[in-house]
Amino acid sequence: MSQPKRIAITGAAGQICYSMLFRIAAGDIYGPDQPVSLHLLEITPALGMLEAVKMELDDCAFPLLNDVIVTDDPRVALDKVDAALFVGAKPRGPGMERSDLITDNGKIFSSLGAILNEVGSPDCKVCVVGNPANTNAYILKANAPNINPRNITALTRLDHNRAISQLAGKTGSTVADINRMVIWGNHSTTQVPDISYATVNGKAASDMVDKAWAQEEFIPTVAKRGAAVINARGSSSAASAANGVIDHMATWIQGTPAGDWTSMAVLSDGSYGIDEGLIYSFPVECKDGEYTIVSDLDVSDFIREKMLASQQELREERDTVADLLPG
Ligand code: NAI
Repeated sequence: MSQPKRIAITGAAGQICYSMLFRIAAGDIYGPDQPVSLHLLEITPALGMLEAVKMELDDCAFPLLNDVIVTDDPRVALDKVDAALFVGAKPRGPGMERSDLITDNGKIFSSLGAILNEVGSPDCKVCVVGNPANTNAYILKANAPNINPRNITALTRLDHNRAISQLAGKTGSTVADINRMVIWGNHSTTQVPDISYATVNGKAASDMVDKAWAQEEFIPTVAKRGAAVINARGSSSAASAANGVIDHMATWIQGTPAGDWTSMAVLSDGSYGIDEGLIYSFPVECKDGEYTIVSDLDVSDFIREKMLASQQELREERDTVADLLPG
């Protein structure tokens, strides 16, 4: 067997991680032949809870789980890891504005970015989950110039999966029949779920559903699905978010199936006229541990307008955290 892959995970005693760690330990990211080592980070008051999670990981006797480190020291957690999943963040409290959340959580990501910069491997694969995910990834990138900026990504795979599920329901098909879904933009209500290129059993989805559904029902249903889950459950999506993170990492590492792509929030290279440097969700193809933004898709005026609105939101979020961006 090969050397274990080391994965740092922040917020490891939280809800998402309770659904995620066991699947990673079972091999769901790196596959069935690759041992893993988990570096679990929490804030000091949550270390007791995290020890309990470690007890349960031990009790599963996962053959691929080489070792588990439990720590409240980010230098230990992030030391030379192959991948880092930044899940830990403060939830939005009562009466808190979105801008307060951005500033509070931004501080976590500027400090973790600076530490990753010191102790991390330059080619560490990063997925930011804690909200606001795109802007937290932007802050992390700005504070970690030694890390390959292309490897600093944020999660929109949950949105992508939600979009596939909605289209499957509408067309009476299964999720396995659907290819080429796209989520553009920010992981927020301005995101743009787009069926323009999607196929259902090889047929154009846009020929199977009416335009009014695609524009007026599908987009808001996907974009507001997180809020719908919070209303129904009393807390935010956890198992589906965990599944999204695992899909994001597994696809990045193991590749997209031929003829399909996925959605990831990645460093914009100016594709589709989006500002270079923003962390923006695009359709990407993955192969051999690398991703490529799918180029030259024909974007309708309706979708373009929404893409620009999501870009504008990301610009404003970036301006809100200007203090946390060095230089
Ligand atoms: P949770 O509140 O159950 O867990 C968060 C954990 O992070 C807590 O255990 C807390 O102690 C820890 N934490 C806080 N600050 C930390 C720090 N500086 N270092 C290490 N750990 C720290 O929350 P849950 O449900 O696990 O969600 C985590 C985040 O993921 C939230 O920001 C949530 O909004 C976001 N989220 C993102 C989604 C996406 O698609 N991008 C989907 C669903 C949730």
